[in-house]
Order: sequence, then C-alpha cells, then structure tokens
Amino acid sequence: MASVGTLTAMIAHEFNNILTPIINYAQMAQTNPTFAPKAITRAADGGLRASEICAAILGLTHNAPVELERVSLRTLLEETLVAMARDFSKDRIELILDIHSDMEIHTRKVELQQVFLNLLINARTAVLETNTLRRIVVHAFEEPGMVTITVSDTGMGITPGNLTQIFDPFFTTKDGQEDQGQGHGLGLALCKEIIESLGGDISAQSERNEGAAFIIHLPC
Ligand SMILES: Nc1ncnc2c1ncn2[C@@H]1O[C@H](COP(=O)(O)OP(=O)(O)OP(=O)(O)O)[C@@H](O)[C@H]1O
Ligand SMILES: [Mg+2]
Repeated sequence: MASVGTLTAMIAHEFNNILTPIINYAQMAQTNPTFAPKAITRAADGGLRASEICAAILGLTHNAPVELERVSLRTLLEETLVAMARDFSKDRIELILDIHSDMEIHTRKVELQQVFLNLLINARTAVLETNTLRRIVVHAFEEPGMVTITVSDTGMGITPGNLTQIFDPFFTTKDGQEDQGQGHGLGLALCKEIIESLGGDISAQSERNEGAAFIIHLPC
C-alpha cells in the first residue's frame, strides 16, 4: 500500500461499497414486509462480508500468510451481484455472465469479490450514461495455469489521456456534477493492488464512446 493515507481512504471506500447494499436491504425490509425475511438475510450476509473484509485488510497489513481457497468463479460472481443489491434489469441493463459453471480458481475469495464489485459498479455507472445499448459482459476462459477474466461494458468509454491514469489512486472523472455522482478514484487502485497481490495483472482497453473492457490475468 502506497501510504497510510491511501490505505485509510481505500478501507473507507470499501466500507462505503459494502454498507450501501446493507442499508438498501434493511430499508427494503422496512417498506416491504413480504420481502423482509430475504432482505434481512441479505443484510446479515453483507455484515458478515464487511467483517471478512476487515480480516482480509488486517491480514494484508500484517503480511500474514496468504490463505487461498478453491472457489467456483461463476458462484463468486453471482454472490458479488447479490452483494450489490442492485436490480440491473430495472435500469434496462443486460448483464451476461459468460463463465462456465465448473471453472474453478485458487484465490482469496473476499478480495477477488471486492475487485468485481468495484468493476461492476464502474461498468453500471458507465452504461447508465448511455441510452442505447446497456450491456455488461463478464467472460472468463482458462489456459493451463492461468485464467483470463474480462469485464466489458457498452458505456461511454475512456479517453486515451485518462486511460493512462485510471489505476492511479485518487484519479477520478466523477466530480458530482452529472448523474455519475462523486467518485474518489480508489476503486481501480484497489483492484490493481489486490490483483497484483494475487500474482496477476489487470489492464484496461477503451475508446471514447466505444465502451470499456477490463482484462484480468490470474494464476488459477
Ligand atoms: N467502465 C468504465 N467506463 C468508463 N470509465 C471508467 C470505467 N471504469 C473506470 N472508469 C474511469 O476511471 C476512473 C477511476 O475509476 P475508479 O473506480 O478508480 O474511481 P471512481 O469510480 O471515479 O471513484 P470510486 O473511488 O468511488 O470508485 C473513473 O472516474 C472513470 O473516469
Ligand atoms: Mg469506481
């Protein structure tokens, strides 16, 4: 981690990501009693994930031995979508998980979920900017010893000038002026930190108005 200030901001950022769905589910339970049991379960799951993220961050700061587990990549993505507590179809967003159900990966699950959470939040914001096709695709394929995962969207894309800076901590174009809200420029910096700590790499490809794609290589 670059500095204590950046680390503190990243932790706050992740807590904001995880608290938002917990609050959404709790509010759903208040306003829609028939949905209450399900919503309370999901809010509790969110709380559990928050405490797992705490443990993962404490592990990172102590340089604790890395504990890897074998997980289904598709299930990991499905759980991340539940944790987002956002109905994509309501916003006319088509979300495609193009991942074979028996694809497994040897990884630190909670941290990899944080990566997908940040990429999907960014993709959702990007496609909401367009009124035409709103599509997000997560595609994965395996080669011996390595998996390549691509998260692509049909959003407004990234200018060449910005493309070189998006992984820098605190770089953001979300200034709260338009519908995109206020960004902190920490999501992608955190993704890069996590993916590299897992022995992989992450890069982005995009052209303005042509959508964006984030490509992750990970040992599996
Ligand atoms: N899918 C995408 N499409 C277009 N631009 C993107 C996409 N993902 C990221 N960006 C650009 O990269 C910048 C940095 O992204 P990052 O996730 O690090 O921060 P942020 O989304 O601005 O704020 P936050 O810290 O809340 O995530 C964004 O402000 C945006 O300009
Ligand atoms: Mg972001």
